[in-house]
Amino acid sequence: MPTKLLSRYQLGGLALPNRLVMAPMNRNRATDLALAPSALMTKYYVQRASAGLIISEGTPISPQARGCARTPGIYSEAQIAGWKRVTKAVHDAGGRMVLQLWHVGRVGHSSLRVDRSPPVGPSGICLEHDKVPTLDGNDEPVLVRCDPPRALGTEEVKAIVADFAQAARNAMAAGFDGVEIHAANGYLFDQFRCPYLNDRADEYGGTLENRWRFLLETVDAVTQTVGKARVGVRISPLGTAHEMRTDPDPLLTYGHLACELDRLGVGYLHVYDQSGSWIHDPQSDLLEHLRACYPYAMILCGGFSLERAHAALQSDHADLIAFGKHFISNPDLVERLRIGAPLAPWNPKTIYKGGATGYIDYPTLEEEALSEP
Ligand SMILES: Cc1cc2nc3c(=O)[nH]c(=O)nc-3n(C[C@H](O)[C@H](O)[C@H](O)COP(=O)(O)O)c2cc1C
Repeated sequence: MPTKLLSRYQLGGLALPNRLVMAPMNRNRATDLALAPSALMTKYYVQRASAGLIISEGTPISPQARGCARTPGIYSEAQIAGWKRVTKAVHDAGGRMVLQLWHVGRVGHSSLRVDRSPPVGPSGICLEHDKVPTLDGNDEPVLVRCDPPRALGTEEVKAIVADFAQAARNAMAAGFDGVEIHAANGYLFDQFRCPYLNDRADEYGGTLENRWRFLLETVDAVTQTVGKARVGVRISPLGTAHEMRTDPDPLLTYGHLACELDRLGVGYLHVYDQSGSWIHDPQSDLLEHLRACYPYAMILCGGFSLERAHAALQSDHADLIAFGKHFISNPDLVERLRIGAPLAPWNPKTIYKGGATGYIDYPTLEEEALSEP
C-alpha cells in the first residue's frame, strides 16, 4: 500500500492513524419512533473504527431538517443518548468520529414530519422529478415525489442558524470528536448558493456574498459553540444531484467560500465530486484554487481507488481521502488496502433496505478466512 495513505495525520486536536476517511453515508437504520441511533448502527460504525476518521451519516438537526425516513436525528434526548452509545463504542474500538449536520431544505416530504409541514427552501421552486424515501401505511420504505417547498422568511433563516449551533452542542454532548456541516449535494445551503433557486430579495439572496451568508453565519455560530478546530464543511462544486444546475462561475463561487472558511478558521474542507471525474485531474484549476484559498486540511471524495488516492496525496491536492461505497462492503478497508487484498463488492439492493442484511454482515478478511471450510 502507498505509505502516505497509511501515514498519520494531525487533524486539529485529533491524531489520525491513517489518512482514510469513511465518507458520510445515510443508511436509514434509525429506530422507528424516536429516530435515534439503533444497536445495529453502533455495531456498523464499530466495525469500521480502523478508518482514520469516520464521518457519520447525514443527521437532521431538527424535525424540519428531515428528508428521509429512518434517518437518526440529533435534536432529542433519546437521539443524543443513542449517539452516545455509538461514539463510546467507536472510541473504545480505537476510532474517531465526527457527526454530519444536515438540513435537506426543499428535498423533502410532509409525511416525514409529525406536523405534516411542507419542506422549506430559499424559494418556492419545487423539484420536478426527484423522490425521497418515506414509509407507507405498513411502515415499508416507499419513494414519493418531493412536496413543493415553502420559502423561508428572514427570521426563520436566523432560527435555523441557531438550530445548527444547538445540534453541534448536542453532538458534543453525545461524545463526537467534531462536526461536519453538510453544504453539498443540493441540500439547504447548496440551494441558497444556487442563483437559479435563490430568488430572495433579503440579505440571504442576490449577490454571491448574500447567497453564502446563511452558510457562513452557520459556520460562525457552530465554531463559536464547539471550537474552530472541531468544525469541517462539505461542499460538492459542479454537482447536479437533486436537480441542481452547475454553478455559473465555480472558481469565483467556491474560491470565495474557501477564503471565508479560511478566515473563520474551520478545521477542514471536504470536497466531493459527484461525477468522480474532475477531482482526479492533476491539472484541475478548481482544486488548485481551493487549495490556495484554504491551505489547511483538505479531504477529497468521489470515485477514489487506491491508485487515485495515492495520486491525489502525492500531488498534494489532498491531505485525506474519503471512501464511501468501499466502506459499505469492506469494514476492514484499511487492512485490505494495506496488504493489497481484493475489495468486496457492495449490494445496491440492501443499501437502504433496513435491518442487518447488507449492513453489518459484510465480513472482514479474518472472518472470511474463519468461515472457509
Ligand atoms: C448510500 C449512500 C449514502 C450517502 N449519504 C450521504 C450523506 O448522508 N451525506 C453526504 O454528504 N453524502 C452522502 N453520500 C455520498 C458519499 O459521502 C460519497 O461522497 C459518495 O459515495 C462518493 O464516494 P465513493 O465514490 O467513494 O462511494 C452517500 C452515498 C451513498 C452511496
